[in-house]
Amino acid sequence: MMTTDLALDISFERVAKSRLSEVDFNHLPFGKIMTDHMFVADYDGQEWKDLRVAPFANMSISPANLTLHYGQTIFEGMKAYKTASGEVLVFRPEQNARRMNKSAVRMYMPEVPEEIFLGGLQELLSTDKAWVPTTQGSSLYIRPLLFATDEFVGLQPSQTYRFIIMCCPVGAYYNKPVKVKVETHFTRAVEGGIGYAKTAGNYAASMLPTQLAIEEGYDQLIWTDGKEHKYVEEAGSMNLMFVINNKLVTASTGDSILDGITRKSVLQMAKDMGMPIEERKLAISELIGAIKDGSLQEAFGAGTAATIAHISQIGYEGIRYDLPAIEGRTFSNKIYQEMENLKYGRIEDTRGWMMKI
Ligand code: COI
Repeated sequence: MMTTDLALDISFERVAKSRLSEVDFNHLPFGKIMTDHMFVADYDGQEWKDLRVAPFANMSISPANLTLHYGQTIFEGMKAYKTASGEVLVFRPEQNARRMNKSAVRMYMPEVPEEIFLGGLQELLSTDKAWVPTTQGSSLYIRPLLFATDEFVGLQPSQTYRFIIMCCPVGAYYNKPVKVKVETHFTRAVEGGIGYAKTAGNYAASMLPTQLAIEEGYDQLIWTDGKEHKYVEEAGSMNLMFVINNKLVTASTGDSILDGITRKSVLQMAKDMGMPIEERKLAISELIGAIKDGSLQEAFGAGTAATIAHISQIGYEGIRYDLPAIEGRTFSNKIYQEMENLKYGRIEDTRGWMMKI
C-alpha cells in the first residue's frame, strides 16, 4: 500500500452547505454529480501557486480563453473505493500523475509536480471522504484537469494554466456488454500525432464517428490504424484486449494508443497468473478469422471508467459477429473479480498499487 507524506501549503475553504444528503447513492449515474469540493492550483508562467481546496463551483472564463479556441487542455481519470472498514483507497494514482505529465509535454504545457498532484488528491479526498460510495459496483471517479488560461486569440502556447481535481460518485460506465464497430473510414490517431495524450481533441474528434456507430446500434468503435485501417488500436473510451487461443492479445502502445493504466494492470495480473501475453499488432483480418474459426474466446475493453467491459458483438464491413457467451469467459471474469477485490481492499495489495487516504 502506498502512502504519501507531503507537506504542501494548501489553503482550504469549506462549502457553506454540503449537497451530500441530496444524492441517491443507489442510483448513481456516471459523471453527473460532483462532490462538494475541488482542488485547484494555478501556474503563473513561472511556478505553481495558490494551491487550494475550494467549494466545487462555476468559474468565470474569458471568451478569449485559449483552451476554448485551441484545445490546449489535458485530463486524467482515476477511481477511489471504500473498503468494508471505511478506508478510502485510490487505484495507482502515481501512474496517472506520470501520464498527465507525458500528455503535458506533448501539448506544450507545464508539468504538474507529482507532489502537487498526489498531495492535492490526498487533501481533496480527505475532505470529501464521505462522498466515496459504498453501494455495490460504485466508486468515486476522480478527474484531474489541466488547461490553458491565457486570454489570447493568436495561436501560441498559453503562459498560464489551471490544474483542477474534481470528483464524482459514479455507478457503472457501461451497464451491459458493449457492441463495437470496426471503424475503417475515420481516423482517431496517427504516428507522430497526439493519440497517446489524454487531450480533449482526441475525444472531440471521436464524437461524430461514434454517434454514427450508435445510430447503427453499436456502443463504441474499434479504432484502426490511421494509415491502412488494418490493425486494431483502441476504443477511445478504453483499451482493447482479446483472448485468442488461450493467449491475451492487445495492441502495443505507441504514438496513437493511450497507455492505459487498467490495460497495464491487466497485463501485469495476467503475467502473475501465468497467462501468455502478446503485445503486438493485431490485424482486423486475424480478429475476424479468429471469430470465424472459434479461436477468439474473449474480447473486452479495459479502462478506468469502463473497468473491464465485456464485448458482446463486433461489427465489420456490415456484418455483425456475436462473440462467445459472457459466462464462459474465464480470464476476463477472473481478472474483473480480482481487480474488484483489490480495489475494495478484500485481498492483500501485494503489488503496492493502492494509495490510502
Ligand atoms: C477514463 O476511463 O477515465 C476516461 O477518461 C475515459 C472517458 C471516456 C470517460
